[in-house]
Amino acid sequence: MCGIVGGIIKGDIGSLLIDSLELLEYRGYDSAGITLMTDQSELNTIKTTGKINLLKQKYLQSNTKSGSIGIAHTRWATHGSPHETNAHPICSDDIISMVHNGIIENANELKESLSEQYTFMSETDSEVIAHLFRANIDQYKDPVLALRHTSLKLDGSYATAILSRNHPHKLFFSNFHSPLVIAITDHGHYIASDHLALLHLSNQFIYLKPHQHGYITLNSIHIFGQDGRPINPKIEVVNIVPPTIKRKPSEHFMLKEIYEQPNVIKQQIEQHTTHWNPLIEEQLHHIKHILIIGCGSSYNAGLTARYWIEACSQVSVQVEIASELRYRQAYHKTDTLIITLSQSGETADTISAFASLKKSNPQLTSICITNNNHSTLTRMSDFTIITPAGPEVGVASTKAHLSALFCLYQLAAKLNHAQAGQDTLDDPTQLHINLKQTLALHGNIKQCALQISQYNHVLFIGRHLCYPTVIEASLKLKEVSYIHAEAYAGGELKHGPLALIDANVVTIALLAKDHLYDKMISNINEIIARNGPVFIYTNTHTDPFENNALVNTIRIPSCQNDLLPFIAAVALQLLAYETALARGCHIDQPRNLAKCVTVE
Ligand code: M6R
Repeated sequence: MCGIVGGIIKGDIGSLLIDSLELLEYRGYDSAGITLMTDQSELNTIKTTGKINLLKQKYLQSNTKSGSIGIAHTRWATHGSPHETNAHPICSDDIISMVHNGIIENANELKESLSEQYTFMSETDSEVIAHLFRANIDQYKDPVLALRHTSLKLDGSYATAILSRNHPHKLFFSNFHSPLVIAITDHGHYIASDHLALLHLSNQFIYLKPHQHGYITLNSIHIFGQDGRPINPKIEVVNIVPPTIKRKPSEHFMLKEIYEQPNVIKQQIEQHTTHWNPLIEEQLHHIKHILIIGCGSSYNAGLTARYWIEACSQVSVQVEIASELRYRQAYHKTDTLIITLSQSGETADTISAFASLKKSNPQLTSICITNNNHSTLTRMSDFTIITPAGPEVGVASTKAHLSALFCLYQLAAKLNHAQAGQDTLDDPTQLHINLKQTLALHGNIKQCALQISQYNHVLFIGRHLCYPTVIEASLKLKEVSYIHAEAYAGGELKHGPLALIDANVVTIALLAKDHLYDKMISNINEIIARNGPVFIYTNTHTDPFENNALVNTIRIPSCQNDLLPFIAAVALQLLAYETALARGCHIDQPRNLAKCVTVE
């Protein structure tokens, strides 16, 4: 999703900003731009649609490369097409230049009142901020007061970085429900929507809280709260090595990240006893209900966890799509534990759903499972469990998803232990070895993918733990290969989806050797009877369809059924990857999608 970087330093900042912007590329975007302020306080803006290397070329060819203060942006279109005019920075004539992440919900209303005075050039909601700030500077004669009054008028979510021609040594910022971080260096100050963009320049950060605004200069940082009072910021020293978001030139990040999974899980197995806050374990003795909230793959991880937790405890589990829960009037019992799942920790839907839950149920304890220790969700939650997946660049979540899934497995096991003094879930200590064995099937899975890639419709089916696993697999396939895919519980086939089955719809069935094995075999037979081709992924050794021309069976490593979601997830991630590769898709940055979904 959109990314912001900006800064004010000794020396020229242009190429540093473009380098930092490249580190935000993984989030997904469709246009990019930069504004530099010259020594004569002129604002020079360069914008382009498409990739950052095009912006870089334009910047290198321009005559206006100098400037020690600047802002830059990658835009993921929400309001207005991915056109150069809609790319950020957005200007109010040559007076103000501004970049914005988020959505201004009352943009139309504000536009109406501003359009008498200012000419709107873009179709974006963001442009109102530039004009409103300018109007407020004229009215209040003080840019900080103007910024505060601008923020007070905006509904929605925003993080902004703004340059004003008439205030040449200041870079203004404001934020509400969209992350913004300031980096302190020995050569000046930077601002960005994600510390990943600045980790190579600093390890000292200030993570801004909602409703804060202010400005940075070369030597100082000024932060104010919503009431206008100055805030003494907390500087956090972040001791993480700048992530290696590099790969072999021939390799996609998605593949690299799929292959990192055995090591991530091995690390989690080893940290099992040391990594968890004992206070979390204490909570597990008392709770009677768990409410899991997430979106996309994170939501799917929650669906899988429900089966594990229900199987080993008396705790009831509710799993909710964040964007739906937020607008429901659901009642929650007092002994409910809230678990938010989000690899980025910045998903707007999850943050908003959690914020409104907290508001109406302040007594509920919350745990956030995330891959981002410095995220908004981490700051909002009582406890955080960090997944040790490391930075994930591919838009399709693989290792972060699997790692969150493993945290949930550990949580279920701990719950089982805390409440019943038992360990009934299958022992996962060899799981990383099973995952390596799964990766060894890559060649077979590729052959399968070559066939799947010929179809335009794929139906996934599974039962019990295999059901949420195929929901995730179908999301992954459609996300990277653009093939229409749906997932159904095997038992639901006869309630509708069977009508779709013919030779042109391929079914992928996940078959476990569990108590529903015979029922799944019947479901597969229902498809074959209607001439539907079927690929079976299974951890069983028997093959009732051995000589059936419509059926292909792919044997995944044999494992206990509780662990099948992990093994199958990896096999089906490889299937999605290879299918997308065969169809020539843009695997790491699928069309229209973003890694970090910071707007509703
Ligand atoms: O960062 P989050 O886990 O909150 O993201 C939620 C979804 O946007 C995300 O899982 C999305 O569905 C992935 N691209 C799936 O691969």
